[in-house]
Amino acid sequence: MKILIINGPNLNLLGKREPEIYGSQTFEQYFEELKSKYSIIDLEYYQSNIEGELINKLHEIGFYYDGVILNAGAYTHTSIAIADAIAGIKTPVIEVHISNVHARESFRHHSYLSKNCKGIIVGLGMDGYRLALESFLK
Ligand code: DQA
Repeated sequence: MKILIINGPNLNLLGKREPEIYGSQTFEQYFEELKSKYSIIDLEYYQSNIEGELINKLHEIGFYYDGVILNAGAYTHTSIAIADAIAGIKTPVIEVHISNVHARESFRHHSYLSKNCKGIIVGLGMDGYRLALESFLK
């Protein structure tokens, strides 16, 4: 099984960025743990701060991989283009947010992406990526 985790803008700063909201672990640390725990899965990670690069990556893998776990960061709340890319590919996408976006500013309450995703995991911290992986395994 081939799964890609995609993180969008500012998520390269995990560990340093607002640790009271996002925790103090870097994504690279977390990803290594995940990879060793789920060694049966062909698991990859991609991060970009650029909207078009996220779309290019979805197009590139979106007809071959078994699943995408996507945290599009703030593009979640703004990007019709990423929503269209998710709708246009075959690979199912699970949307993940580390923080509970519904307990935060109202501009974070709406996602353009959710309706095109298989499911959504919100507010469970970094563990959300693992839960999405478990869901793909089933
Ligand atoms: C986030 C929530 C977004 O509102 C925010 O812009 C992020 C991270 C999360 O994982 O909680 O960058 O997607």
